[in-house]
Amino acid sequence: MPPITTEQIHAGQAVYTPNMLAIYDVLVLGLSNRWIWKCPTPRLLAHYDRHISGNHLDVGVGTGYFLDRCRFPTATPRLALMDMNRDALQFSARRIARYRPRPMCAMS
Ligand SMILES: C[S@@+](CC[C@H](N)C(=O)[O-])C[C@H]1O[C@@H](n2cnc3c(N)ncnc32)[C@H](O)[C@@H]1O
Repeated sequence: MPPITTEQIHAGQAVYTPNMLAIYDVLVLGLSNRWIWKCPTPRLLAHYDRHISGNHLDVGVGTGYFLDRCRFPTATPRLALMDMNRDALQFSARRIARYRPRPMCAMS
């Protein structure tokens, strides 16, 4: 398999525009996780609940849905958000502002 190019990496995150992020939870988490990927969102959330710690780096944050809904083992988790896409970072950071997350714009 040929190596992934920089252009492909950039294209992979470019779809997460503010308009896309506004419908992401319904479209991806509500429909495609269950019907296309056959891995319903409640199952993924249970995975977060089982494995999340009070010192967490989330890479590829999307809308921050799971960080918003999961049960942290502490009321004041230390939370860093990493994403290439500034809109996704802003969207998720705003959503979980109560945890005072630290956003980082970077490519994984
Ligand atoms: C499919 S969404 C997943 C969102 C979230 N983890 C979820 O499960 O709902 C992919 C996220 O990864 C980010 N992303 C895609 N490629 C990336 C890369 N190479 N480095 C960092 N972030 C990337 C996108 O901007 C987007 O926020």
